[in-house]
Amino acid sequence: MPKVVFQLADGTETGVDARIGDSVMTAATQNGVAGIIAECGGNCSCATCHVWVREDFAHVVGEPDDLEEALLDLAVSERRPGSRLSCQLTLTEELDGLTVEIPPEQP
Ligand code: FES
Repeated sequence: MPKVVFQLADGTETGVDARIGDSVMTAATQNGVAGIIAECGGNCSCATCHVWVREDFAHVVGEPDDLEEALLDLAVSERRPGSRLSCQLTLTEELDGLTVEIPPEQP
């Protein structure tokens, strides 16, 4: 069972146990993590699930596809090298301990 750590906008961190195959967005919303709004429910069309993936996991999560890439430009928060839409990050055992930051514009 992979654990995902969310760093909230105030700097505090909260860890949640998630299921393999779930998205990082689902792990957040099912555990009441603030700041992941996910208006479109994970259909890659709202960009309100934006997170910044910590550098040590960047190579594991890989790169966004073209649709996600375009949507990231519409996110309200600053785009960074680790920017991803959390609904497009599917959890695997390899991602156990994944840490993502939630942008302050999404609380
Ligand atoms: S939940 Fe809408 S783009 Fe991720």
